[in-house]
Amino acid sequence: MVLRFEATYPKGLCPGWSVIVKGETGSSTNTFEINFLDESGEQIAFHFNPRLADSVIVCNSFLSNHWGQEEVTETVPLEAKEPFQVEIYSDQDFFHVFVDETKVLQYKHRLKYLPTVSRLQIMDDIHISSVEVTRRGLC
Ligand code: GAL
Repeated sequence: MVLRFEATYPKGLCPGWSVIVKGETGSSTNTFEINFLDESGEQIAFHFNPRLADSVIVCNSFLSNHWGQEEVTETVPLEAKEPFQVEIYSDQDFFHVFVDETKVLQYKHRLKYLPTVSRLQIMDDIHISSVEVTRRGLC
């Protein structure tokens, strides 16, 4: 596990925030993660994990010390060593994920009290060129 980026947003990221990550996948493990966590880092509200070698995107939450049921998407519009943009936008009900402005999935909130989601981590095989956090709606 290699931590590439971490930031905390004390008032919480959700809902209404949009996170835009621009980067390139690496060529070693071809898997990376974007995680939305609570302040303590013990709970992962949303784990977004493209696994290029398996042609899947695995999404899950880590709550109360264990992983929940995986939500697996087989549409993976990402290529090794190619630049891309991932946008993750949260509203009251879902995280919505867009790759290069095409919607690839949505993930229903499992950690229901959204203001506790205040930390963003990006890990593993990704070369990040920028991370932008913007408010898309009223929070
Ligand atoms: C596990 C993996 C974790 C996480 C989880 C998601 O197999 O070790 O890093 O991706 O799946 O369900």
